[in-house]
Amino acid sequence: MKKHQFHQETEAVRGGASLAKKNGPLSTPIYQTSTFEVTDMQEQVRATPTDRFYTRYGNPTSTAAENAIAELEGTDATLLFSSGMAAITTSILSLVKAGDHIVAQRDIYGGVIKFLSRWLPKLGIETTFVDTNDIEQHERAILPNTKILYIESPTNPTVRVVDLEKIAALAHKRGLISAIDSTFATPINCRPAEWGIDLVLHSGTKYFGGHSDLICGIATGRRDLIEQIHHGRTTLGGCIDPHAAFLLLRGIKTLAVRVERQNDNAMRIAEFLRRHPKVTRVHYPMLKEHPDYAIAKKQMAGAGGVVSFEVEGTGADACRVAEALNLFTLAPSLGGVDSLVTIPVLTSHYLIDPAVLKKMGVTEQMIRLSVGVEHVEDLIADLDKGLAVLSGARKEAAVAD
Ligand SMILES: Cc1ncc(COP(=O)(O)O)c(C=O)c1O
Repeated sequence: MKKHQFHQETEAVRGGASLAKKNGPLSTPIYQTSTFEVTDMQEQVRATPTDRFYTRYGNPTSTAAENAIAELEGTDATLLFSSGMAAITTSILSLVKAGDHIVAQRDIYGGVIKFLSRWLPKLGIETTFVDTNDIEQHERAILPNTKILYIESPTNPTVRVVDLEKIAALAHKRGLISAIDSTFATPINCRPAEWGIDLVLHSGTKYFGGHSDLICGIATGRRDLIEQIHHGRTTLGGCIDPHAAFLLLRGIKTLAVRVERQNDNAMRIAEFLRRHPKVTRVHYPMLKEHPDYAIAKKQMAGAGGVVSFEVEGTGADACRVAEALNLFTLAPSLGGVDSLVTIPVLTSHYLIDPAVLKKMGVTEQMIRLSVGVEHVEDLIADLDKGLAVLSGARKEAAVAD
């Protein structure tokens, strides 16, 4: 873990830019090029390991964003990818070989579950899935050939928070690489490297980009791991495009203010929902009744913009509520400035075995909100109106509190 030179808000705005530079552009230029010219072959050889050789290997615009993220996460180095899935699959493939084993928590992104359970076995790499907050079960699942302990925190859509200190201690005790998908947290709310986690992964598509206008992925962490993953990225080819890296860098400048606002808005919305008579359960880690409240308080500055809740009635009723909202747009994804709403069993958790859904605590009546940066009273009024479809009308309810 590295020491921070500035506060997070400052690092977000100034990260990646050299503070010493003079007469240069304030905004990082987009090096929209696939290749870089050299004057002679000696220089060509010198350029090969740098970010001025060929953009699949590296690119100065990507480097600026990578440096900014390493500063924010307090990690040694960062690599950017064409998507969150490219970051996760390339990282895992770079760190394992045939015959290795992975222990992964059950509540992880569906695409990663598919990769671990359907793709890696073709290469002779098996995964054991364990209950998210059962550390003893994690320990029991570790085999002599286990290489990676893979977790996600907070999780989707039940927003469970994993105790990072315990996971890191277990991984170090058993000589494993600890890897986390920290997409839902962002470094503004939690920096896993500070708790001893070796490799931090993100779908940069979400909070980092922040405007639902780019797809990208992030791997950041210990230098030796990032070096191995860099070989994987150049071979597998999932590098970020320079223009996307520029958009990402622009998004990062406002990451701290956006996430702080999303934390506040989501907390107010969670409190509103918890008092609503048609809502049976609210999932938000900063609510005292959430099973991981104490862990969230210990390791997170805020719980982010995702709030899930369950309504009285059936799955069809949950759909009616979601469809009645106007300010929350019906769309998958999360973390951007625009508030979104989705039904997990019909999107991120579609076609997952009902027994597995039950274990995850994902129900048909569950609605997932990604709370944006709009005025919270407008968002609460929209939810109040949407929930009114369950009772015809709910005139006595306060619109905002
Ligand atoms: C937690 C999490 N991890 C990874 C991904 C995959 O990211 P991407 O869509 O950028 O490939 C997602 C996408 O929704 C996600 O929610």
